Amino acid sequence: MKKFEQPAEQSGDEGRGAKWNETVESYFEAADITNEAINFPAIVRGMGEVEGRTILDYGCGNGRFARKIEQMGAAKVIGVDKAPSMIDLARAADPDSRVEYQANPDNTLSFLPDGSIDKAMANLVFMMSPTKGEMQQAFKEIHRVLKEDGTFVYLITHPAFIERGAPDYRNEFDGPFNYFAEEKPYKFILKDSKGKEIDEDFYDYHYTLATYLNTAIQSGFSITGVEEVAYDDPAVVKKYKIPPEFQKFPQSFMVALKKPKVES
Ligand SMILES: C[S@@+](CC[C@H](N)C(=O)[O-])C[C@H]1O[C@@H](n2cnc3c(N)ncnc32)[C@H](O)[C@@H]1O
Repeated sequence: MKKFEQPAEQSGDEGRGAKWNETVESYFEAADITNEAINFPAIVRGMGEVEGRTILDYGCGNGRFARKIEQMGAAKVIGVDKAPSMIDLARAADPDSRVEYQANPDNTLSFLPDGSIDKAMANLVFMMSPTKGEMQQAFKEIHRVLKEDGTFVYLITHPAFIERGAPDYRNEFDGPFNYFAEEKPYKFILKDSKGKEIDEDFYDYHYTLATYLNTAIQSGFSITGVEEVAYDDPAVVKKYKIPPEFQKFPQSFMVALKKPKVES
């Protein structure tokens, strides 16, 4: 396996963000089977009814799922991303869409009032947090803007199986994988629809399942459901021609949360 080399200028948050801003378009050239086939459906299951609701897509990227939620009948969809280049792509993607996009490079949701959102979702966002502190701040802000009884669903690459990759991506660690080494950057290598790797120096950061769950609990949320998201539906396996080795473990982990009512 090729030795992992993280360029010095990408070791911090700024470097990672800058690289992401430069290379976003190639990210969306990827095959992206796992998001389409199993991740987004799991988020939809976790969120429940969206019709008539105000929905926040946190870390919306180019807004593809925000626009799907709009098509599912949401009254209002707000797409937020820390990368301004993503927000530019999202705005340009569909001029007829009513999704409201906003960049949040400071990792706050200061433009949203307390208790203004019915449901929030975050697909594959928190593995991009370079520190636990940044992840905690994001959860606290999402908790603040949700209404009481509001739902927040987030999905991450399953950290226990992160080394095994998926049909459309693989992860490369610097040396032997240590599950307990947190805030550790690893290279995320996408494959295009022909299986060719798109090696653009994207980095994500490793956290344990306990950290992902405790961050939610310590931010004031109650866990209402979890799902180990896998290629376990024979129709999906057949449609996307998923090789047997990727049917034996979960690719992703979905967590459904509620902001509990404050007792008066
Ligand atoms: C892997 S992409 C996924 C994009 C989108 N959710 C999707 O599924 O197509 C992760 C996105 O999260 C954004 N992001 C990472 N950390 C964030 C944060 N703290 N606040 C807002 N956006 C963030 C990144 O800029 C990136 O666009």
